[in-house]
Amino acid sequence: MRQSSAGLSFRSLHLSLRFVLPLAVALGLLAYGVVPLIDGLMLRWSVRDMDIRSRLISSTLQDPLSELMRKGERQRISSLLVRVNQDERLLALGVCDNESRLLYKTPAFPAALSCRQPEHSGSDPEHLIRLPQGPVHVAVSPIGDESGSVGSLVLIHDMSFMERRSADTRQYVILLFAVLGVVISLITVFVAHLSWRGWMEGVRAMLRGEGILRPFAGQQAVTSSELQPLVGDLRALLRTLDAERRFADDATIFWSADTLRKLLHKELSGDQVLVVSNREPYIHSQEGETIRVQRPASGLVTAVEPVMKACSGTWIAHGSGSADRQTVDAHDRVGVPPEKPAYTLRRIWLSREEESGYYYGFANEGLWPLCHIAHVRPVFRSNDWQQYVAINRRFADAVVREAKTDDPVVLVQDYHLALLPGYIRAALPKATVITFWHIPWPNPESFGICPWREEVLQGMLGSTILGFHTPFHCKNFIETVDRYLETRIEHESSTISHNGKLTMVESYPISIQWPSPWQESQASVEECAREIRSSLGIGPDCLVGIGVDRLDYTKGILERFWAVERMLELHPELVGRFTFIQIAAPTRTALDDYQNFDAQVRALAARINKRFATASWQPLVLRIEHHEPEEVNRYYRAADVCMVTSLHDGMNLVAKEYVAARDDERGALVLSQFTGAAHELHEALLVNPYHIEQTAEALHEALVMPEYEQRERMRSMRALVRDFNVYRWAGRMLLDAARIRQREKLAARIGGLARVR
Ligand code: G6P
Repeated sequence: MRQSSAGLSFRSLHLSLRFVLPLAVALGLLAYGVVPLIDGLMLRWSVRDMDIRSRLISSTLQDPLSELMRKGERQRISSLLVRVNQDERLLALGVCDNESRLLYKTPAFPAALSCRQPEHSGSDPEHLIRLPQGPVHVAVSPIGDESGSVGSLVLIHDMSFMERRSADTRQYVILLFAVLGVVISLITVFVAHLSWRGWMEGVRAMLRGEGILRPFAGQQAVTSSELQPLVGDLRALLRTLDAERRFADDATIFWSADTLRKLLHKELSGDQVLVVSNREPYIHSQEGETIRVQRPASGLVTAVEPVMKACSGTWIAHGSGSADRQTVDAHDRVGVPPEKPAYTLRRIWLSREEESGYYYGFANEGLWPLCHIAHVRPVFRSNDWQQYVAINRRFADAVVREAKTDDPVVLVQDYHLALLPGYIRAALPKATVITFWHIPWPNPESFGICPWREEVLQGMLGSTILGFHTPFHCKNFIETVDRYLETRIEHESSTISHNGKLTMVESYPISIQWPSPWQESQASVEECAREIRSSLGIGPDCLVGIGVDRLDYTKGILERFWAVERMLELHPELVGRFTFIQIAAPTRTALDDYQNFDAQVRALAARINKRFATASWQPLVLRIEHHEPEEVNRYYRAADVCMVTSLHDGMNLVAKEYVAARDDERGALVLSQFTGAAHELHEALLVNPYHIEQTAEALHEALVMPEYEQRERMRSMRALVRDFNVYRWAGRMLLDAARIRQREKLAARIGGLARVR
């Protein structure tokens, strides 16, 4: 209440000032400048009139008067003067002789005047005399002819009319100024109102980030014209501030679960965080009488889980496990991790048909091969698309239901949910939607074959922030939008404005937890090496290589096996002394492409083993089954070399996991140049997996790498993964989101103020 009455009085004060000020200025001008000026002018004009008039009368009387004066006809002179005096302006006349004696005068001739040229006040014009009965104009002109002067004529005009005229004029001027003052005040208020609104709109647009965009042809600029000169400066300032802040953050913040928790508390205090993904972080499966909990092999889950633990939010995902329904409450929620719940998992249910169209169909037969240039032809079916649309809507409904406020922070994950950001924005316009695309984004030509490319792009542009792993993927996305949608793109700030809403496109290289969750509990490297070797029947002197992937055609598993084969051909001394273990988690097994790939991998491994195997050794160990992350960690610690040979990969967290697992600073990494990780892990042995010889040589180089070199490379890569860990990935996005939210809240406040006015 207090606030609103203060606001009102401020408002009325402001309004009155807007009216009163112009009026006061107008009246001040009137009192101190205009009225005296007009009075002076009027006086001069009147005196000049009287001068002319007096000259006219005296020249008319010149001849008759001089004649009558010479003749001495006193009577006729007096009556002539009385006749002339009938003019209403002429107060009196007098005739003087050459000695300035007043010989004749009309009755009203003022006693104070004589024949001499009267004195006048310095400020008045000549001939104006102020007498007690009022101002008079006195003109004295000689009377005479060729034979000489006979005297002079004194004409006295009444000037009191001048005061009446001046009073009238003053009245008109005051009236005119009052009207002008009111008109100017109204115009001022009107213009001020318009420009205030314009400014506010402009400032609000800028705070939302829209003001920093150029208008495109045919569209009006978002920023009002008077703000245009400021926009460049503000844009530069905001960018510099953001860059400086990022730089300062990176230099000073060590990102950990605790940092992330504190950041969420400080920057997004009280704001609800929701994560939405297709894959759930915990799958409950019925195995006989018991229910088993499984952690899926997914880079996405690996990355997002630590964030959720830090912020205790809600994760909405497809409940795909056979015992998932039995483990949720009445609201389809379950606390996870099961051993020590830290956040809520909210499950969404899909029928077989829905899963087949939305997940297997459009997402994994369409978008997945479309975005990974792995030369598997994408398949697009209308039915799949319809399911994709319907399930994205279902996820959106769940977000709306789980949202406790109208402005939650929603982290949308991956290509299964491209339409979700648009639906969330429509239902919860104040929500901050951060979408992260975990897979690559292709060039516009490649993406252009998608029959629903516009819909997909529009859906994604519902995001406040759209994240990719690398600047290259961001660039591809922006170019794709530029090609297929009508939007405004600001390349400098990497923002896209679509339907009046802004999306920031930014690269946030994903990473893993640091330190590893098994840091304290894990067995020593020697123990892991012993255990793995003995469990797989590998001799103690045998070098070990490891590959860990989902059994996916994008992972370059065939190319990796061919490289192992080629390496054994080129370096036969390693036959019997090197074993490559491939862990492959079965994935999307319902799809033909994956079944075929599974068969190809098995066949190739069998062929190579047959070719090189001895009674006690085989070059390839293939484990096509699910492995829990902790178990995978033991393999990493046991392996002398890790091979990551994806044909195209958003990031590939296996590369980072291997580095993180090697706290002994040993081991070497062979890494495909087509992964996001290759942009960060420069000390890995980078290869083109399509180039089998090159990969084979890199593998050999890794196996014979001196210890000191392994240490140098591993130390540098570990430092990078330590500093650029998953908390930083999430923290960077959440910090950017917090900044955008602050700007939007400020914009809304200014908007509210502008509306009150
Ligand atoms: C990998 C990709 C993720 C993707 C996930 C899906 O981790 O990097 O982008 O979401 O696979 O795997 P899924 O088994 O759920 O199909």
